[in-house]
This record gives sequence, structure tokens and C-alpha cells, in this order.
Amino acid sequence: METDTQKKYFFIRTFGCQMNVHDTEQMAALLREAGWKETASEGKAGLILINTCSIREKAAQKVYSLLGRLQEVKRNKPGLILGVAGCLAQQLGGQLVRKIPAVDLVFGTHQAHRLPEFIRTVEGGGRVIETVFTDSVRSLHRITLPPAGTISAFVTIMQGCNNYCAFCVVPYLRGREESRPFRDILEEIRQLAGRGVREVVLLGQNVNSYGRNLAEGADFADLLREIAGVEGIERIRFTTSHPKDLSDKLIRAFREIGPLCEHIHLPVQSGSDRVLSRMNRGYTREDYLGKVARLRDACPEVAISSDMIVGFPGETEADFEDTLALMEEVRFDSLFSFKYSEREGTAALLLDGKLDDRIKGRRLRILQELQDRYTMEKNQRDVGRTLEVLVEGTSRNSGADLMGRTRTNRIVNFPGDGVWIGRTVPVTIREAFLHSLRGEAVLPGLQSPALPASPEAA
Ligand code: 5AD
Ligand code: SF4
Repeated sequence: METDTQKKYFFIRTFGCQMNVHDTEQMAALLREAGWKETASEGKAGLILINTCSIREKAAQKVYSLLGRLQEVKRNKPGLILGVAGCLAQQLGGQLVRKIPAVDLVFGTHQAHRLPEFIRTVEGGGRVIETVFTDSVRSLHRITLPPAGTISAFVTIMQGCNNYCAFCVVPYLRGREESRPFRDILEEIRQLAGRGVREVVLLGQNVNSYGRNLAEGADFADLLREIAGVEGIERIRFTTSHPKDLSDKLIRAFREIGPLCEHIHLPVQSGSDRVLSRMNRGYTREDYLGKVARLRDACPEVAISSDMIVGFPGETEADFEDTLALMEEVRFDSLFSFKYSEREGTAALLLDGKLDDRIKGRRLRILQELQDRYTMEKNQRDVGRTLEVLVEGTSRNSGADLMGRTRTNRIVNFPGDGVWIGRTVPVTIREAFLHSLRGEAVLPGLQSPALPASPEAA
């Protein structure tokens, strides 16, 4: 038997990118305003929401297996509300309910702001399937503040994508590109700074095309400059940027804007001109390498991470070798790499030269082994250096350690005091691993001149 108190707890499971993580934060804020409480225990929840991702096949499979399990849970708990949000919901709509009949609520990427209303409908015995695209994404006009104590916060600056890369479903699932008004972004960031947030991560599918639909005439570099002036914001990061839209003005920003961290995620996808053209990426290998050179010229310390796809239709061994050669030339600080997977509605479905999964698997392994070597080499270079680490919280591996990031986005674990959370601490790096660094704070307790006041004390 379910009680009313049980029913007021919600649990959200998120799949996919940082954009989805932030959408979840926004949905959680809406639910809290509507009187719901968040729980970390799925079993306690009267409302379970799955914020889905369908960008790659693997992501979609994970969602299906979770929904299958929850369908079983609901058999023994009939009052449980089961909702599906995000890209898979956008893509499948009513089909999802036919596949998993236990689902009460399906809503797409432009409809999330209506969540409380949808839940009332379900509570009244109805079922909701809402996947209409709107002209203006409502969540872009809403200020969402993260829980107290957050040091690094996401801020959406634009939604959607107009690029139509041949492999990608995003333009079909997130809609046309839309920039959030300049003033709304700054207002949100001022409020974040006032609550102790020290770092903002600006989010968008292609942040460097920010401003195109706005009357103000401001571009992404202008936005960065304004944000840098907000008192209390020590660090600015952003993701993701498209190489074709990386302007010289933005490259200069890495040298000129102090709080802008020395890290850029610049997905290249392939090192072969032939593949890049078939992918409809809008740049060549030389263009990409030229931008990397200019970035490093403007800011020698800049860390560059990227995304790479292996096994795109028609990719030959020679194309793959070009990808490895590009990796050798650039030496990415880190790389997310994927086997190409077919996505419904995308242009690549019509291309010939589909590759066998074994070939894709072999190429992925070779690529990842190579990248692991480069990542380790890059991480090793920090050993012995003293780097500024913004402390975000306690370490996931050991509660006794603190966890923070360097300006180049490397995770650093080190022993320290909880009062340092939210501060920038100089840490000497002692050991490098594949996914993190380990170090020691310099002169703990004696660093007051170097440390800004903690947010709690402010
Ligand atoms: N197959 C494999 N990888 C893909 N990505 C996007 N679509 C696909 C696909 N169909 C990867 C790209 C993108 C990242 C977010 O996901 O590398 O940059
Ligand atoms: Fe997808 Fe290309 Fe848009 Fe990125 S730029 S979201 S890969 S279509």
C-alpha cells in the first residue's frame, strides 16, 4: 500500500550529456516548487523520471533495459508514476508507451517546463504524451538555481542545432538553434555567484554560434567578456564548440579573458577529409589543424579534448590511418571515441559502405590504446608542477580526500580540509593516472594571502 507521503518523493535518473544533466536539474527544481521532495532511493519514490539520451545506440539500449526493469517494479507498486523525458522520448513519443505500457508520461525536449501540469494530469488518471516542438524553448527563459553548496554550475546559453552532421540526431530531437537572451544569462550568473558558485560551465550544442538569432548583435566572445566581469565568478568553461565556428576572436579570448579556463572541447570526429566531407562537418583536416595551431599560439597551456567516430560508412583503412595520424599530430589531452551507430532520420543512413561491427570494434580499440598513451603522457607532464585547483567537494574514491579541477580540466584528488571547498588551492602534483592526478596542497593553513575568502565566510 502506498501512502501520500511516499507519493511526494521523486527520483530522476539521467542518461547522456551535460545538457541532459542540466535539464534534470531544471526538472528537479520545478518538482520541488510543486511540493515534491527528491530522494536518492528509487524504492522510496512515487515518481520516477528517466531523462533519456539517444545520441548513440549504446545510450538508447541502456534506457530500454532500465525501463524494462521499472515496468516490473510498477507491477508491484501500481500507484508509481513512471515518466520518460529527453531525446528518446522526443524521438519515440507514443511508440514508447506501446513498447513499455507501464509508462504514464512521455514528454519531449521542448516540453519540460510543463512537467508539474503533466503530473497533475497523470494523478487525475490520465496519460500524457507531449512531444511538440515550440518556437521558443521555454526553459531558456527560466532561471534555475542549483542546490546550496554548488561550486561549479551549468548555465544553458543556447539550445538546438542547425548543423545537420550526417550521423547526428540532435537537430531532429532538440530542434533549431536558439540562443538565450544575454541579460537572462547574466542575471542567472549573478544569482549563482551570490550563492557561492565559483565556476560556470556554459552549455549549448554549438556555443560558438551563440547570438545568431538575437537582436542584440552580441556573439559568444562578447558574452564571455561580460561574464568575466561578474563578481565572484573565478572560472568560466564552455561546451561544446564546433570547429567551423571557432573564430579568431574566440581564440584571442583564451589569452585575454582571465577567468576563461585553458580548456576547449573541440570535436573533430575524423582525421580524413573524405570522411569529414561525407559527415557534412564543414571543415577540412587542415582547417582543424590550423585552428589548433592558432589556439596553442594564443594560449600555449590550452588543453584540447575531442570526440572521434570510427567506422563511419565508407571509412577505409587509409581514412582510419588519417585519423590516427591526426591524433599523433594534435596529441589531444583527452578523447571521447565511439563506434558509428545508425540513427533514425539521419542522412548517413542513406550512405553506402556500411562497416561490419568487428571492424569498428578493432579500430576503436586501436584508437583508444593510442589515446590512453597520449593522455598518460599529458597527465605525467603535470607531475612536479604546482597548479591552481578549484575544490569542488570530497573525493569520490576516498571521503578523506578533496576533489577539484585544474584550469585545464584535470581532476585532482588531494588530502585537505573540508573548509577549502569552494576555494582555489595551489596543489603540487605528485602522481598521474589515466583519469586523474594526485597531489598535495602547498603549505596548508598558511596560504591565506593566496586564497580568496571561502563562500561561507563571504
Ligand atoms: N554514432 C556514433 N557517435 C555519434 N556521436 C553522435 N552521433 C553519433 C552516431 N550516430 C558522437 C559524436 C558527438 C558525440 C556527442 O557523440 O562524436 O560529438
Ligand atoms: Fe550533432 Fe553536428 Fe549539431 Fe553537434 S554540430 S549536435 S554533432 S548535428
